[in-house]
Amino acid sequence: MEPIKIIQDCDPGHDDAIAILLAGRNPRIQQLGITVVAGNQTLDRTTVNALNVCQYLGLDVPVYAGCDRPMIRDKVTAGDIHGKTGLDGPDFAPLTRQAEKKHAVSYLIDTLMASDGDIMLLPTGPLTNIGMAMRLEPRIVPKIKRIVLMGGSFSYGNVSPAAEFNIMADADAAHVVFSSGCPITMVGLDVTRKVLCLPSAVERMAKIDNPAGRLFTDLMRFFNKTQKEVFGWEGGPLHDPVTIASILDPDLLKTQPMHTEIDIRSVQSYGRTNCDVFGYLKKEPNVDVAVDIDVPRFWDIIEQGIRNYA
Ligand code: RIB
Ligand code: CA
Repeated sequence: MEPIKIIQDCDPGHDDAIAILLAGRNPRIQQLGITVVAGNQTLDRTTVNALNVCQYLGLDVPVYAGCDRPMIRDKVTAGDIHGKTGLDGPDFAPLTRQAEKKHAVSYLIDTLMASDGDIMLLPTGPLTNIGMAMRLEPRIVPKIKRIVLMGGSFSYGNVSPAAEFNIMADADAAHVVFSSGCPITMVGLDVTRKVLCLPSAVERMAKIDNPAGRLFTDLMRFFNKTQKEVFGWEGGPLHDPVTIASILDPDLLKTQPMHTEIDIRSVQSYGRTNCDVFGYLKKEPNVDVAVDIDVPRFWDIIEQGIRNYA
């Protein structure tokens, strides 16, 4: 079976880092490139974080820095969860890897336009890079096989009662992407909140004596410390790797097609993914929304992903 070609667009971020780890060294996935966006931390930090993860794991994947701010709204970050660097916890060796010279948006456009339409985009941060690429070169839309994104929620948010961070951090870009007509799988909080990285999960992976096991453990011990401080939770939701896990096992998620629009107008619900769960609007569904996840299977996929690093 041909490996699945992917480009990960991310804002590392602890859970983004695990998504990069899970995709790396996996014979079923061809990581064409990693594009980076501002989100959990500023672009300079998320770029360094992506490079540090690739260097630590020995992943020879090109990293492209993208947009350092949202399309229209003011920039927001999530330092309270991911720490000052955006990837606090591990002690990385001096960084020798460098980002590519090409801008992430140009890389996305050039790569997709030259492709046979067989590349999946896996965004796990604000959608600024993807939205900008679609606006700059609309012809990429039919070239994208599918977008499997972490973001949104058909229930409640995590940065406001209504909105989830990735969408709210650049709701205009999310509007461009969700209204593009591209096939989309939305991996929202409704399922990612079911994969809490409890201390038992950390200890399970800590038993794997390789660089990936060590990186997972160092990252998740910090991540859980802040989740406890901020939310009072024993373990933080491992949001972003669910995107990768879902393409490795198509039966992992239960999805439901829903007409979904991004609220870019209101104040209270700004950045909400308005998913028409019951089809009230009689509008054509444009998103496959994840509504459930096989939690034990997810953790088995994470364990296997770590074991792939000899
Ligand atoms: O709301 C969770 C999402 O926001 C995750 O992708 C996390 O990394 C942050 O980007
Ligand atoms: Ca993220």
